[in-house]
Amino acid sequence: MAQSVDTLHNQNVGDIAAHLPGASGVFREFGIDYCCQGHVTLIDAAARRNLDLGVIDTTLGALDPAATPSAPRETTALIDHIQTRYHAVHRRQIPDLIDLSHRVETAHVNHPQVPAGLAETLTRFMGEMEVHMKKEELILFPAMRQKAMDRLGNPLRELRHDHNDHAFFLDQIARLTEDLCAPTDACASWQALYSEAGRSKADLMEHIHLENNVLFPRYEMAMQD
Ligand SMILES: [Fe+2]
Ligand SMILES: [Fe+2]
Repeated sequence: MAQSVDTLHNQNVGDIAAHLPGASGVFREFGIDYCCQGHVTLIDAAARRNLDLGVIDTTLGALDPAATPSAPRETTALIDHIQTRYHAVHRRQIPDLIDLSHRVETAHVNHPQVPAGLAETLTRFMGEMEVHMKKEELILFPAMRQKAMDRLGNPLRELRHDHNDHAFFLDQIARLTEDLCAPTDACASWQALYSEAGRSKADLMEHIHLENNVLFPRYEMAMQD
């Protein structure tokens, strides 16, 4: 993407994240939702969050467009990457977060900022994620690998809808945890909980982005031809 930052203003944030290595990290840093709201232009995304577009320009402008992307471009390799880097990691990380959350909620039950209900929210989230990932692994990805376009339309719509539900869980977690800001007197476990939850949130956003803005459109566009 060899172009000036000015020309990025009217591009969708999902497309920018898909083509400019490192842009997704910049968007996360500024709180811009590039995964479920990837269709929003950069100028509108900045306005929604009352962000200084000039500062975002400077940060995006410092990225190297020729840097190696973090995910493979080739479709089959991308599907493999999504399964090994994201599905498998969510299945390890989220149950650990649930355990840690139970411990923090129990140990600090009387603290005014305790994230009461976080373990329960994460448990419901993991249940939905497991069903969602199974649908991708058993239905969507095999059909994609076989290029069985007639079996993709409904699953793609349904799975995009699931992604919006995942974003709803992220909002709930942000509300329960004051946006993952631990209080100044938080113990090491509480701090670890929020920092690990932040890592999981970044993984989830990148995972959804790769599906919504990179993988799914390849098939959706082919179906329109
Ligand atoms: Fe997935
Ligand atoms: Fe997904």
